[in-house]
Amino acid sequence: MGQTDNFIEFHQVTKSFFLAEGGQQIVLEEVSFFVPRGETVAILGRSGVGKSVTLKHIIGFLKPDSGRVIVAGRDLSDYDEEQLSELRRRIGLVFQSGALFDSLTVAENVAFPLRERARLDGAELDEEEVERRVHSLLETVDLDEYADAMPTDLSMGLRRAVAIARALASEPDCILYDEPTTMVDPLMAQMITALILRLKERFHKTSVVVTHDVRLAERVADRLVMLHQGRVAFFGTPEEWQRSNQPEVESFRSLDALPGAQPATSP
Ligand SMILES: Nc1ncnc2c1ncn2[C@@H]1O[C@H](COP(=O)(O)OP(=O)(O)OP(=O)(O)O)[C@@H](O)[C@H]1O
Ligand SMILES: [Mg+2]
Repeated sequence: MGQTDNFIEFHQVTKSFFLAEGGQQIVLEEVSFFVPRGETVAILGRSGVGKSVTLKHIIGFLKPDSGRVIVAGRDLSDYDEEQLSELRRRIGLVFQSGALFDSLTVAENVAFPLRERARLDGAELDEEEVERRVHSLLETVDLDEYADAMPTDLSMGLRRAVAIARALASEPDCILYDEPTTMVDPLMAQMITALILRLKERFHKTSVVVTHDVRLAERVADRLVMLHQGRVAFFGTPEEWQRSNQPEVESFRSLDALPGAQPATSP
């Protein structure tokens, strides 16, 4: 670790929060893993285990109490605010909720990062180019027919696909997905899984998929991290995952065997 071309590295990251009722809750304890450039890493674990907290460390929204988070070759604590925002522009985030602008059409949501980038660069915006890019992105996620729809008219699954297209619009070096298949039906979960897989095969972007959907993780990941009680219970390749006889891994893996299974927190 360290010398290789990893886009993200966690070195013994520990993070705790102060509880309102007093005391502290240790969420991450000496968490170490890495994400090689161009690979997809799935972070698996039960609800509340610290998956989203881990993601927030990657974009510097949270800072470790101890340990180091290295992104794009530098310790995040060495980034100043300006460099952090620059870094965040290079990381596409797909939130659980989709976090779309409800007053903008699907096409305008996807165009947003393009307009924003032009604005920040003080560049002239070529409307035809924007339209062409948006169309191609919507095609990539199979949503071209929804270009003029409003996000609120779409199902949760389709909204996530729009959010993915919008994340891709800024041509990020890395995409972070937070629970892309929660709160959608099994068919939609399969569709999103297939989409993430397709994007992976087409763009080879460094990706982190945070999920408790073991099927999603097993299908898309080049490596899996399993968090359990604040620690990394497993970090390895899919082959090692399949071979592992650790009880935590086995119990998660068995979820995949259940017909139509959606782990714990999905309604
Ligand atoms: N900013 C914060 N302040 C205090 N506690 C927090 C904060 N963010 C997260 N936590 C706590 O840290 C723990 C882990 O939260 P996190 O959101 O990372 O879980 P998760 O693994 O993403 O769960 P889920 O699968 O439900 O999304 C939770 O107990 C949560 O209450
Ligand atoms: Mg979460």
